[in-house]
Parts: sequence; structure tokens; C-alpha cells
Amino acid sequence: MNHLDVEFVGSYISESQCPPTKLPEYAFIGRSNVGKSSLINMLCQRKNMARVSNTPGKTQLINYFDVNKVWYLVDLPGYGYAKVSKKQRAKFEQMIERYLSLRRSLQCTFVLLDSRHPLQQIDQEFINWMGEHGLPFVIVFTKTDKLKEKELADNIETINQSLLAQWDELPQQFITSAKSKKGREEILSFITEINQKIAAP
Ligand code: GTP
Ligand code: MG
Repeated sequence: MNHLDVEFVGSYISESQCPPTKLPEYAFIGRSNVGKSSLINMLCQRKNMARVSNTPGKTQLINYFDVNKVWYLVDLPGYGYAKVSKKQRAKFEQMIERYLSLRRSLQCTFVLLDSRHPLQQIDQEFINWMGEHGLPFVIVFTKTDKLKEKELADNIETINQSLLAQWDELPQQFITSAKSKKGREEILSFITEINQKIAAP
């Protein structure tokens, strides 16, 4: 159920180049190796949909996918790349920050966190930046199949304690596994609900 028709739209170098803001859009972001491509493929039920975004040259671009001609899935470059120079990284962060703060049709950003690790500084910094700018986001815990139930609950608790040290409220959270498809229906329902609210306010 919940079949998605997904088409690659294009890759863009800045917010000003992105397609017209005629559809609601949802962005996905996280550190490299967090499981972003796997999650996107799982949501779209494609083996290699997010391949585009891993093609050299496109990893540092804003990648658009059209879903059912109803919404855009936006695959953002991972933050905190160790491999690029400081200058390049700053340029790149500016591109992401401009996109996130300027894009009017962006409804919500999915911030991916690896459920096996405590909150990393770079994740905390990104989340703080989103919060300070009043930008709506939710958290997606990835790779949860790799943990026992108790370990997962403990890790999520630890991450949430770190977040609560900075913020009064926790954002909405999704517990996912690209392997078992856990969380797929929940994420798609969340998106559908927002889309319906926009269509019939
Ligand atoms: P980059 O594009 O290289 O920055 O990484 P990414 O964030 O797109 O992560 P990717 O989806 O390539 O996943 C990284 C590794 O984690 C791969 O070996 C995946 O197979 C594995 N992985 C991702 N999600 C899951 C999951 O839900 N369960 C398990 N068991 N492995 C996962
Ligand atoms: Mg990837």
C-alpha cells in the first residue's frame, strides 16, 4: 500500500535555482552515513532512487524528487563532511542554510539521527540552528533494527536528554529502519496530513 510514483526532477546549486514553489516540499538531512539514501529508498520503495544524490558532483547539490505530482522530496547534502576543505564546507553550509531559511514551500525538514550513537555536536548545532530560526523539523532515528529494544529506548532517552538541555520541548520523532521498513507508514501519513491541511485549510 501507499505506492509512490517518484521522479527525479533535478539538482540545484542554490535556493534561487530550485523549481517553482508550486508543491509542498519536505527536506531530508543528516550526517554522512546516517542512512539517508537508505531511508529515502525505503520511503519510495525503490532500490536505488537516491543513487542520484550519491553521484559525484551531485552530493553537494539540492536534489529534487517529485512524488505523485503532489509533493517534492528534497534530498539535501549531508552536513559535517570531513573530506572537504574548510572553505568549501562553509560555502556548502551557506547553501543549505539559505535553502532552509528562504524556501517558502518547505513544510518540514526531517533531521536524521543514527539511533546507535549519542547526539553528536554537529547534530546538536544543526538542530539549534533550526530552532533559533523557527524552522519546523522532526527527528528520524535511523538503523533501529541494529539495536535491541532496551538499547534503543536508552539511546533515544540519552539523545532526548541532550536536546532537553537546550530546548523546552522535543520535536516529533520517528523510529525507523530501512531494513524492516519500520516508520514508513508513519512518515508518509505525517506528510499526507500536512499536504491535506494545505489543500483544504
Ligand atoms: P552517504 O550518502 O554516504 O553520506 O550516506 P547515507 O546517509 O546516504 O547512508 P546510506 O543510506 O548509504 O547508509 C549507510 C550504511 O548504513 C549502509 O551500509 C546501509 O546499508 C546502512 N543502513 C542504512 N540504514 C539502515 C537500516 O535501517 N538498517 C541497517 N541495518 N542498516 C542501514
Ligand atoms: Mg547517501
